[in-house]
Amino acid sequence: MQKFNYDKAVAVIKQNHQGPFPKTALVLGSGLGRFGETMEIETVVDYGDIPDFPVSTVSGHSGRFLIGKASGLPLICMQGRMHLYEGYPASKLAIAIRTLRLLGVDTLILTNAAGSMHEDMGPGSLMLIEDHINFSGQNPLVGPNDQRFGDRFFDMSSAYDSELRKGLTEAAQSLGIGLHKGVYVQTMGPNFETPAEVRMFKQLGADAVGMSTVPECLVAQHAGMRVAGLSVITNLAAGIAKHALSHEETISEGSKATATTERLLNRFFADLNAKQMAG
Ligand code: HPA
Repeated sequence: MQKFNYDKAVAVIKQNHQGPFPKTALVLGSGLGRFGETMEIETVVDYGDIPDFPVSTVSGHSGRFLIGKASGLPLICMQGRMHLYEGYPASKLAIAIRTLRLLGVDTLILTNAAGSMHEDMGPGSLMLIEDHINFSGQNPLVGPNDQRFGDRFFDMSSAYDSELRKGLTEAAQSLGIGLHKGVYVQTMGPNFETPAEVRMFKQLGADAVGMSTVPECLVAQHAGMRVAGLSVITNLAAGIAKHALSHEETISEGSKATATTERLLNRFFADLNAKQMAG
């Protein structure tokens, strides 16, 4: 596979956005794209304008970087992400995150839509990711190690940063928003799970299941970034739900939780900004 030209990607984005670059990035999951519209947008860069940059093909996801501010915090937002089930080689999922790293981003907030293993964590609930299980059978870091980003072997014992988790927990508390905590398991998709798979995942210690986030977390962790993850529960997982699952439900339930998610993220970003100004 031809090597991705990171220098060119960074140059294109920097040509479009002059001035200081945000240190925090947010990846928006299914149904959450609207958050981007609420930002104070200074620059938009379509993935398609960056040479050889992978573009997302899923409905409900557009594909662009939004650069600006959210609640005062300089932020770069990925509106649209790439998934393994779209058929990209896993290594391509490293591209966006590594481009952000080279632009100076050191803090990555990942959001996703997920199915819940618990009846008392139903559609519309939010779950802070404390840890994950990679059940996708894939890893974006397979292949020659690019030492520019990190070492061949790297630690995953605290993949989701404790300070960021504390910040999100405090933001939720101060707004009176319920925030569950748990383990996210990623499948490759594109199908939703069978009830037997959901029972297995629950026994393995998972609380929510989805088709994204883990590759990005791995790439970011390898590159020494701080990561936080937030799941928007769009449905009870197969077998726990009493009806068939659909992408439409994911999008519509995700959108219903958007207002709460936006409030939570905005408070969190405001706090992060205050901390950065102070320190
Ligand atoms: N399974 C996998 N991915 C998902 C689900 C689910 O139940 N809901 C939203 N994304």
